[in-house]
Amino acid sequence: MSDTLAKARAYEAVHGPQIPGDQRPGFHLSPYVGWMNDPNGFSFYGGMYHLFYQYNPYDTVWGPMHWGHAVSRDLLHWEYRPAALAPDAWYDHAGCFSGSAQELPDGRHLLMYTGVRRREDGACLQTQCLAVGDGNTYEKYAGNPVLDESALPPGANPCDFRDPKLWREADGSFRCVVGTCLADGSGCILRFRSPDGFCWKEDGVLEPNVHRYGKMWECPDYFPLGDKQVLLVSVVGAQDIPAEEGALPPGNHVLCLTGHQAPDGSLCVQSMHPMDCGLDFYAPQTLLAPDGRRILVAWMHSWHFLEERSEQPLPWMGQHTVPRELSLRDGRVIQAPIRELESLRGPVQFRGRLTIRGEQVLEQVRGRMLDLTVDLVPLEGAPQYEAVFLDLALDGEYRTTVSYHPASSLLRLDRSRSGAAPDQVLERSCTIPRRSGAVKLRAILDRFSLELFVNDGEQVLSCVLYTPAAADGVGIRVQGALTARIESYPLLP
Ligand code: FRU
Repeated sequence: MSDTLAKARAYEAVHGPQIPGDQRPGFHLSPYVGWMNDPNGFSFYGGMYHLFYQYNPYDTVWGPMHWGHAVSRDLLHWEYRPAALAPDAWYDHAGCFSGSAQELPDGRHLLMYTGVRRREDGACLQTQCLAVGDGNTYEKYAGNPVLDESALPPGANPCDFRDPKLWREADGSFRCVVGTCLADGSGCILRFRSPDGFCWKEDGVLEPNVHRYGKMWECPDYFPLGDKQVLLVSVVGAQDIPAEEGALPPGNHVLCLTGHQAPDGSLCVQSMHPMDCGLDFYAPQTLLAPDGRRILVAWMHSWHFLEERSEQPLPWMGQHTVPRELSLRDGRVIQAPIRELESLRGPVQFRGRLTIRGEQVLEQVRGRMLDLTVDLVPLEGAPQYEAVFLDLALDGEYRTTVSYHPASSLLRLDRSRSGAAPDQVLERSCTIPRRSGAVKLRAILDRFSLELFVNDGEQVLSCVLYTPAAADGVGIRVQGALTARIESYPLLP
């Protein structure tokens, strides 16, 4: 083991256990210590789920990229394993960037990641590299890098060539997709193939951005779902596109493109929608669970605010979303919190139907680890209500509000009173399909986050919250009157 990796493992073994459990998210993965970004190597191996992550153990800001590592049997209770990769080789001394994992035919665990280095002239180079291990310890492949700039189309930027997502075909051969930026400055997802996972060759373009959505596309994932092929991409430089050409609102953007695969291997895109309309969702990665479910996790944080500040600084920074089961409905990718989450439910707090006019604090419903479903329907015989506001993590000072206006069908998430720094992006909205004023909201709250699943996961809005733990109330305000069917459970990890 290199000194760099041994040093990281020794550091985290001392400092990780010092973080009290109640200062971390209850059931979302956070870094053992220090900083975390993208999920990496999300896979089922040796009877367990493995989730690695972009990791700087030494500080709560982005820095020398290692791979942190955790394992779980239910995707909710995570056990830390020692750091898996450190930037210790000539081809990755500037960082072991994102990548993925698969099991090899001989039972070993294969990691494929982006090695970043600086050439003597200062230029940056990103190449694809491998490490092989047993679920605990990984050794970098002697033949690294296995894909370098010679595998890129002419003019593509070798400093933007990253985040390989691996899978195995039915015939046992390996494929991966990797993000790059072409000579025209626009992102592109490339395909590569390998008979054994070690020897890789170009396999054409999966999908070029052609200046449609942002600039570079990173962290691709590509998989079948129902009768479609799905491509997820995280967009860099969305704000740099002039408004008249379709600028995306400030903050992170992950796009979900669905379609079918053409005979030449490229994607024939039939539809595109944002994967999450909230404020903190980036770099998602999926795995195929042994029972056939396609499960996604993403980094629940934002690149735009790297020094997010809570009122009390935390000894860790960054967390992943709750794992989500994906399915397809009317050509759209639907997300639901994994069903295992129900095993964390305590006794029901409240189940019933209320007529709400004006403002109502829901006395029996409270908590910052909560699984709350609020099914809002117009009140029979009454005029359509004008707007409804669901306040979460609420007390006299703080609230995070989800509002819905039936006339415009606009749903808005507002965390301006959540304790977030004022320079963060504080609100986002999306339009949802009109259903005569009816809308179903499932809020999954953890100590430092809210994930809102709208109409059984047709849309999701995720955000980090730095609201003090004492703000644990829930309230509903209505302009007009409506009926709310409510079901609420505390989550007890
Ligand atoms: C996305 C990303 C990846 C890169 C990693 C570096 O969040 O920029 O493209 O591999 O983070 O930490």
